[in-house]
Amino acid sequence: MWDRWPRNAGGPSYPRASRRNTASLFQTSDLQNWTPPETLKEERQSGCVPPTSLEGNSLKKSNWGFLFTGIVGGTLVVVYAVATPFITPAFRRICLPFVPATAKQIENVVKMLRCRRGPLVDVGSGDGRIVIAAAKEGFTAVGYELNPWLVWYSRYCARREGVQASARFYISDLWKVTFSQYSNVVVFGVPQMMLQLEKKLELELEDEARVIACRFPFPHWTPAQVTGEGIDTVWAYDASSFRRSKKRP
Ligand SMILES: C[S@@+](CC[C@H](N)C(=O)[O-])C[C@H]1O[C@@H](n2cnc3c(N)ncnc32)[C@H](O)[C@@H]1O
Repeated sequence: MWDRWPRNAGGPSYPRASRRNTASLFQTSDLQNWTPPETLKEERQSGCVPPTSLEGNSLKKSNWGFLFTGIVGGTLVVVYAVATPFITPAFRRICLPFVPATAKQIENVVKMLRCRRGPLVDVGSGDGRIVIAAAKEGFTAVGYELNPWLVWYSRYCARREGVQASARFYISDLWKVTFSQYSNVVVFGVPQMMLQLEKKLELELEDEARVIACRFPFPHWTPAQVTGEGIDTVWAYDASSFRRSKKRP
């Protein structure tokens, strides 16, 4: 029966053996010559046996395929992880994107801090440039920032500038932080948030505190000082005066 098995039948091919030498079916030499059924099927269809180097080539190709897929996938994951914290502020109730202060703006902030003492906070500290500038002026300065990449970058910059001891950065939502311990508050916000921040600071700050607003002023407070022009304008408000003159309904 084994001898009569058709040579080119569609089923799997095994080493041919007669009933008499069935034992030899499992001899090492036979097993070494054994070819996977799929390969034989392909060989039968094409009528030729592929050289071993071709098999190696296709294996190499599939390895490159895996590598390529891994690199593309990995790159996409990294781009997604880096870009998401920069894009998500656009979808928040108050959209406060990362726009760094200009050199002139920083200069104006520093001018408003002249003769001031006590701890300073930058509300939404971005890449840390205001906190670092304040630390260089001798302030103990803190930045609260939602975007972790910017916080890590700020810490790196503070270290690079040698002010890591006096410039601290935290990954925090500014609406969840209490600012009562700060004597100097700097904010570069957007008009949509200024009223809400005004109310928050009125409740939290001590009388001797000073608030410095960059580019957009607070809606109800009267500034003690204004400096710069255009996008570099900076307003300074004293808590003692905005507490006294609560004009808001
Ligand atoms: C206009 S940028 C100002 C950056 C920096 N203060 C400066 O002047 O260069 C505002 C920053 O606030 C951050 N931000 C937005 N929403 C925030 C939130 N809820 N809590 C903390 N930071 C926030 C943004 O990621 C952005 O870096």
